[in-house]
Amino acid sequence: MSNIYIETYGCQMNFADSEIVASLLQKEGDQMVGEIEQADYVLINTCAIRDNAEQRIRKRLRELRAVQQRHPQLRIGILGCMAERLQSQLMVEEENVSFVVGPDSYRRLPEIMRKVREMGVKEAATELSTSETYADIEPVRLASNGISAYISIMRGCQNYCAYCVVPYTRGRERSRDPETIVAEARSLFEQGYKEVTLLGQNVNSYRFVVENASGEKETVDFPDLMRRVAEIDPLLRVRFATSHPKDLSDKLLEVMAKYDNICKCIHLPVQSGSDRMLKLMNRHYDSAWYLDRITAIRRYMPDCSITTDVIAGFCTETEEEHQMTLEMFRKVRYDYAYMFKFSMRPNTYAEKHLQDDVPDAEKTRRLEEIIALQGQLALENNRKEIGKTFEVLVEGESHRSKEQLFGRNSQNKVIVFDRKDVVPGQYVKVKVTDCTAATLKGELV
Ligand code: 5AD
Ligand code: SF4
Repeated sequence: MSNIYIETYGCQMNFADSEIVASLLQKEGDQMVGEIEQADYVLINTCAIRDNAEQRIRKRLRELRAVQQRHPQLRIGILGCMAERLQSQLMVEEENVSFVVGPDSYRRLPEIMRKVREMGVKEAATELSTSETYADIEPVRLASNGISAYISIMRGCQNYCAYCVVPYTRGRERSRDPETIVAEARSLFEQGYKEVTLLGQNVNSYRFVVENASGEKETVDFPDLMRRVAEIDPLLRVRFATSHPKDLSDKLLEVMAKYDNICKCIHLPVQSGSDRMLKLMNRHYDSAWYLDRITAIRRYMPDCSITTDVIAGFCTETEEEHQMTLEMFRKVRYDYAYMFKFSMRPNTYAEKHLQDDVPDAEKTRRLEEIIALQGQLALENNRKEIGKTFEVLVEGESHRSKEQLFGRNSQNKVIVFDRKDVVPGQYVKVKVTDCTAATLKGELV
């Protein structure tokens, strides 16, 4: 039996994967610990999406050398996308790393960790799979507040956006058996959870062939899956991420509109407002298509919030094309945006065929312009919510004051209010009285 300390970086998918890893290791008798000083193993679940994500991990590894000096028996293993990207090379570059295990090889962790410990060797397992979904593993809810949980519904991505390393680190796209997804969501609800988030790199291409009662083959797509999860109980909220604009169907919007417990929030990464950039990025849509999808969302659900990802300074982006991105932001008026500077990633289409020719200072300037505009738009959007009353799922104590709680409305906006006798996990009605660009403030009604 060993003590395991897991540290997770990057996207929600990585957090979900860490919970699978914890489950696999607990089955072997290992236990998770909350203090690094008590650990026999530190597992770092890593992200490779941008160079700064990798630099952060390398810095962390240098810090861990000091801990290893105090605890020479401590072994470090690297999991996730950086493990997959760099494979055994990572153990050469980083001497204090004993094993490297990619996203499709987590079942091999117990065996690898045993080998590393007993034989004092270094090991790497980075084979990608076309079928692994960990469907039978019940995740150990590591970071959970007992209210909201992630459910991974598919793995991998094969869209090959020109800038993106994910298809190389997470392999081919594959969907998980819907029965196991619905069972996991139901079990969470029975344990008292009130919200599940279905996760995939591109959930709109979720597809699983099942046999129906009369023995015929039937395809379950993402809207079908959403319907089934939503029907578990009206008190179980359902969210999902991420949608690729090219695949966002009216069928999904229809299902979303029909069920009150499907949260009215869509994350629709735009990446750029310029058609030439979108083509170069291999996104398979143009700005007109994207705006048509926005119109469709608003037609089905006028109160739906929309969030996005955007990249500033992709290869050969001109000032004019950057302005088109700003124009897109003004047209859509996003409720929230994750905004990034382009970072060239090894082995991607961009690295092989395009020039990273926008100077870093220029990327920074463009990014800051997007951030400033988005801040203004978010504030204006939030001001429009003042006076409205929302149903809020209470998540916990506000970071600012013990006298206040925070929760989220269906649109995923954070609302802070005076606690009175409310407890986390409850649904309450809150009337918005004030706001900042990031949060709504309100009072219980
Ligand atoms: N550089 C900058 N941002 C990137 N993203 C993906 N790859 C890169 C890259 N090489 C962003 C995209 C994606 C989000 C998860 O990360 O906006 O939607
Ligand atoms: Fe990367 Fe594009 Fe796949 Fe998203 S859809 S993970 S941006 S390749």
